[in-house]
Amino acid sequence: GFDIGKLRAETGLVTLDSGYGNTAAYKSAITYLDGEGGVLRYRGYPIEQLAERGTFLETAYLLIHGELPTVDQQAAFKDEITRHTLLHEDVKRFYDGFPRDAHPMAMLSSVVSALSTFYQDSHNPFDEEQRHLSTIRLLAKLPTIAAYAYKKAIGHPVVYPRNDLGYVENFLRMTFSVPAAEFELDPVVVNALEKLLILHADHEQNCSTSTVRLVGSSQANMFASISAGINALWGPLHGGANQSVLEMLQGIQASGSDVDTFIRKVKDKEDGVKLMGFGHRVYKNFDPRAKIIKAAAHDVLSALGKSDELLDIALKLEEHALSDDYFTERKLYPNVDFYTGLIYRAMGFPTSMFTVLFALGRLPGWIAQWHEMIKEPGSRIGRPRQIYTGVVEREYVPIESR
Ligand code: ACO
Repeated sequence: GFDIGKLRAETGLVTLDSGYGNTAAYKSAITYLDGEGGVLRYRGYPIEQLAERGTFLETAYLLIHGELPTVDQQAAFKDEITRHTLLHEDVKRFYDGFPRDAHPMAMLSSVVSALSTFYQDSHNPFDEEQRHLSTIRLLAKLPTIAAYAYKKAIGHPVVYPRNDLGYVENFLRMTFSVPAAEFELDPVVVNALEKLLILHADHEQNCSTSTVRLVGSSQANMFASISAGINALWGPLHGGANQSVLEMLQGIQASGSDVDTFIRKVKDKEDGVKLMGFGHRVYKNFDPRAKIIKAAAHDVLSALGKSDELLDIALKLEEHALSDDYFTERKLYPNVDFYTGLIYRAMGFPTSMFTVLFALGRLPGWIAQWHEMIKEPGSRIGRPRQIYTGVVEREYVPIESR
């Protein structure tokens, strides 16, 4: 593309691009996204194929290393991750300090940030061996951190990870089982969560990923950078939308399931009400992830034998919105978050855990993008410019004269 840096150097020109609608801050070889065509590929592989046939760990390997793993590489990667799933016992004390009703996203980012106090050798981002260790530790420990947050909220003792289980199975068991009690994993839940994590694994320069890159561009360590990304993801316009969608559906249900009135409120922008789970900065036709997830929502709910009135409300909302000029003129279509919450709910997760599940999925993408940035020759610190709109200059006035 056009090199704005060169123009700036020659003219002193600064461009104002609200929300970075047009500004590419990086070159990247990780994720290809065509917003008009509804295309999403990780390292060239279509998301549909990965979700249908791949596993989350091989997707993580693909994003981070650039190629799908061979049988041996996959085994070594899985083995290494499995051996790092435990949290240092002292980490548990952080949970003791959090209030019981703390949002799990706040616990997640705090504990991830705290990992840099336990792994002080990891602070130099140019130490390749430590970079690798931090990658493995983060992938291995985030499910444990997430499950502990859930246990804290419900007042149950933590369940330690088990080395003989797969990544998703281990997380589900740490979350939903009780120590010393029988627990059986439902393959429908395991497969659906695996697919959802793959669909969330990367999405080029979204808000949280850009945050990871921006923090990392100062050469802050990986734990600090990823913790910042988790906080960026928490907001309702980003990953927090999956929680907001469910709360919106519950609100509509509580008020008598009147979809028309709700759509009218959105169109009138009453109190800033939005149709959560709709719209996307880049997708202007459809979100390919939403297409897969909508089908999965039907399958999972029927396989688990759960009918959900909220799914009916969601389907009605979608139908109304897609035949309404307000939404079609603005190219607003369901995004990845519109149907995920319904699946998570059917699996037994409380609403507050939805965005945590998004974070578990997005982690490989954040890590891959952080590595790409650190390894890029001539990589510079991220530092946007501004257009100053304040008072140009004035004299200091002593307090008694103001
Ligand atoms: N409901 C109603 N109106 C909307 C919605 C929505 N969900 N999204 C955008 N609009 C309207 C805006 O009000 C604006 O209208 P106007 O032209 O009359 O002012 C127009 O569509 C353009 O919207 P922008 O806010 O400029 O779009 P932007 O690209 O900045 O925002 C975003 C994208 C944040 C996703 C937005 O569509 C939104 O808030 N959606 C709801 C939250 C959500 O689902 N977020 C998850 C996104 S996907 C993800 O992060 C995983």
